[in-house]
Amino acid sequence: MYSSKITGMGFYVPDNVVTNDDLSKMMDTNDEWIQERTGIKERRWIKEGSGDTAAVMGAKAAKIAIERAGLIKDDIDFIVFASLSPDYYFPGGGVQIQDLLEMPTVGALDVRNQCTGFVYSMSVADQFIKTGMYKNVLVIGAEFHSKGLDKTTRGRTVAVLFGDGAGAVVLSRNEEAGKGVLSTHLHSQGKFAKELSVLTPSIQKWVPALMEDPDDLSYYPYMNGQLVFKHAVVRFSEAIEEGLTANNLTKEDIDMFIPHQANLRISQFVQRRFKLSDDQVYNNIMYYGNTTAASIPIALCEAWEKGKIKEGDLVVIAAFGSGFTWGSIVMRW
Ligand SMILES: CC(C)(COP(=O)(O)OP(=O)(O)OC[C@H]1O[C@@H](n2cnc3c(N)ncnc32)[C@H](O)[C@@H]1OP(=O)(O)O)[C@@H](O)C(=O)NCCC(=O)NCCS
Repeated sequence: MYSSKITGMGFYVPDNVVTNDDLSKMMDTNDEWIQERTGIKERRWIKEGSGDTAAVMGAKAAKIAIERAGLIKDDIDFIVFASLSPDYYFPGGGVQIQDLLEMPTVGALDVRNQCTGFVYSMSVADQFIKTGMYKNVLVIGAEFHSKGLDKTTRGRTVAVLFGDGAGAVVLSRNEEAGKGVLSTHLHSQGKFAKELSVLTPSIQKWVPALMEDPDDLSYYPYMNGQLVFKHAVVRFSEAIEEGLTANNLTKEDIDMFIPHQANLRISQFVQRRFKLSDDQVYNNIMYYGNTTAASIPIALCEAWEKGKIKEGDLVVIAAFGSGFTWGSIVMRW
């Protein structure tokens, strides 16, 4: 049986930096509150008229990843695209990537697992490679959050957290024993579906019904922040333990931990729990906010660009988010 490994990575974030002070001009918030609770200093938000969307940013990140893999677009056998903020209700953004990159008519699959979207997407790509069906799979996470946020004081608990951006990897067939993706682990608990959600417009409540009630703001994200926090720290830890146990490894074996960038406090809690040093964890939420499906590939790529991931390193990735969903990936670089 084959295994898979990352052969190329890229990320793209919009130029437009939005600081916490910028937000305090839109809503009743302040830099101190945001930094203390979340660690976020600034985020990137797409500027109106720039032409960027989740698919457009995803294609930009993918182009870099393909180039760094030493491949051309025609070498890619399949696309997996994760986003909670796609350009259209349907079709999903995967087909747009195929078109934007002028790729051959390869399959394109859309994954809707929010903050765990990239972990789910990697797991799907890994299975296609393991079976021998595909050799090179493009895996992308991209989000255009800023347009869908309630940027008034009413929405401040959620609006300050999220940023726009995209990250991509090429996952390729691996011939070297003990290298690449060692295992992936996926979970969900749908009884908490509404605790972090955007409920409309949906088939349950389509646009005309929504417009009848001006007080119905269910098209904005809702988050039960404290419940999410409590579950996140438990599930992150479980997912890491599960990945380590499956590979007969211990926390001492971890060279680099890349957590989904939900909140710096969550990452720090997990870091303390696993007794990891600052050099063993990569966080960049301070500069990008929570970019949901894009956060892990952006962080992974940035850590690698900074020389923090080396050949032979054990890299552990974990995510938790809306669904609730959570999961992990264990890789030998
Ligand atoms: C969102 C989060 C930072 C809020 O922190 P919290 O300590 O739970 O804060 P609360 O919602 O209880 O609000 C505390 C106070 O701050 C206020 N507040 C909320 N957002 C604010 C903001 N942006 N600026 C200033 N004050 C704010 C609240 O109104 C509340 O005021 P009150 O005490 O007068 O009622 C925190 O719950 C969290 O990080 N949760 C997990 C989020 C997450 O990771 N989501 C993504 C998962 S993938």
